[in-house]
Amino acid sequence: VPARAAQDSRFAFKPIPISTDNTVHVPEGYRWQRLVSWGDPLFSGVAELDHATGGSVADADKIFGENTDGMELFIIGGKQVIAVNHEYTNNDINLPEATDGVPRDAQDVLKLQNLQGVAVFEISETDGNWSVVKDSPFNRRITHNTPMRIAGPAAGHDLMKTEADPTGTESLGTFNNCGSGRTPWGTYLTCEENFNGYFGATGDTQIEGLTAEGYKRYGIAAEGWGYDYHKWDARFDTSKNPHEPHRAGWIVEIDPTDAASTPVKRTALGRIKHENAAATLAPDGRVVVYMGDDERGEFIYKFVSRDIYVPGGDTSTLLDEGQLYAARFDDDMTGKWIALTPEATGMSAAEIAIFTRTAGSRVNATTMDRPEWVAVNPLACEAYCALTNNSRRGVRANAGGDWTPVGGPNPREANEYGQIVRWRPANDDHASDTFEWDLYVMAGNPTVQEGPYAGSENVNEGNLFNSPDGMAIDSTGLIWIQTDGDDSNEGDFAGQGNNQMLAGDPVTGRIERFLTGPNGSEVTGLCWSADRRTMFVGIQHPAAPFPDGEGKLPRSSIIAIKREDNAPVG
Ligand code: FEO
Ligand code: CA
Ligand code: CA
Ligand code: CA
Repeated sequence: VPARAAQDSRFAFKPIPISTDNTVHVPEGYRWQRLVSWGDPLFSGVAELDHATGGSVADADKIFGENTDGMELFIIGGKQVIAVNHEYTNNDINLPEATDGVPRDAQDVLKLQNLQGVAVFEISETDGNWSVVKDSPFNRRITHNTPMRIAGPAAGHDLMKTEADPTGTESLGTFNNCGSGRTPWGTYLTCEENFNGYFGATGDTQIEGLTAEGYKRYGIAAEGWGYDYHKWDARFDTSKNPHEPHRAGWIVEIDPTDAASTPVKRTALGRIKHENAAATLAPDGRVVVYMGDDERGEFIYKFVSRDIYVPGGDTSTLLDEGQLYAARFDDDMTGKWIALTPEATGMSAAEIAIFTRTAGSRVNATTMDRPEWVAVNPLACEAYCALTNNSRRGVRANAGGDWTPVGGPNPREANEYGQIVRWRPANDDHASDTFEWDLYVMAGNPTVQEGPYAGSENVNEGNLFNSPDGMAIDSTGLIWIQTDGDDSNEGDFAGQGNNQMLAGDPVTGRIERFLTGPNGSEVTGLCWSADRRTMFVGIQHPAAPFPDGEGKLPRSSIIAIKREDNAPVG
């Protein structure tokens, strides 16, 4: 049929098979190169990575950081500038001289703190090859110690105050920066995800009430996740600074045009384990930001600004005043955004911001299978969220969280493959309170499973994957789906190979594989050059020997993908 043929021609590549090797693969007629890897200097006078030491502490905040994740490209005065997240550290790789990567002293901890956060840097293309412009005035590293301003309903609240900041409005650092977003006014949104892992306690932590409930719900515990900051930096010791964790878990707005600007924590968007922030505009000009909370049995949220965006107007408080909602998905394939108001939750505006998960529970939002990235379709009024997987649906999955019955957009118990839910707002208005939903794809494995675990009809032997995570919809309306799942290629995952990136057609449902990552890696983060002839893709936590070869440390990297004929990609 001509209509189908027209749709099919949208896939301007020959799909590739799975891979199980140590490199990146792209389709015939495309090529990839490395743009930048962990340890590459952003400034002159900084040493190239020393693979024996993992680099010096002095250089750690002047290099491309560890574990590249969400990223966006900005065009600023004709220059191309990437802002990108450095999510977490691989301590055994970043501290190769420390036994099992356990920090030995405050200097090791400072090095880890400086390898994370955000990088902003200019890039340029010469004869089809991309590189970082060292010493560009845009280049900057934001770390776990960079001064931030706190804005919105939680700013100045008692729960945000610490001994070092009695105002509760000035914190240090942005943490576990996972997915990304961008505002219509050209700022970068970085999203703090597993912030709890950096905190620990050397003594008793004095907390009660909502704070104690919050510690449990967000997973803040005495032992931490092995970063050991609390043993060397009292700020992260909750027995000494019980409010410090309240200053993490936010969406942070960064102005990439000014390397001296202070990032702002936008507390009106809630405190959750933020995956990304998909911003769009309602027809009346209000700003709508969709956000997933990536933990088993947590919720999907939406913020709608009170004021409208006026191009060229003042945008400094647009993300501070507005309404936060949590999503309820009903079995009849409709849904509702439930406003998190003091009336509905019995909490103050500041408490709703700080303990957003509790507020979502109090309005009976729908527990989801780990909401990762949300993507808004620029060509149709709809949004997609990758529900990556959920090994524990059916039980109380998250300490202090809600029961998670099977149903609606989370139809499988022991969901090891994940799905992508799509919603279409009423009246073609992202600010609407209601929507209709369906599943765009339910990943599965038809070669070894039957029934729902085989996946939806648009899953076949040629496009097998599990655990959708990163997502972006390009200007032609193709959905790019990146995976972060089981790459064992065995058992339930046989035939699925390494993590990968696929492209999907929202209209036909067709999905084809475009890229495969090296062993051990997850594919995450995606943006395009100004002319769309280059696509930048993040390769996070690869195993050795990617990309430098045997005997070298593995390095998370951004790669640049081009067509041999230099036509636009996607
Ligand atoms: Fe950092 Fe949910 O991925
Ligand atoms: Ca992710
Ligand atoms: Ca993931
Ligand atoms: Ca990851």
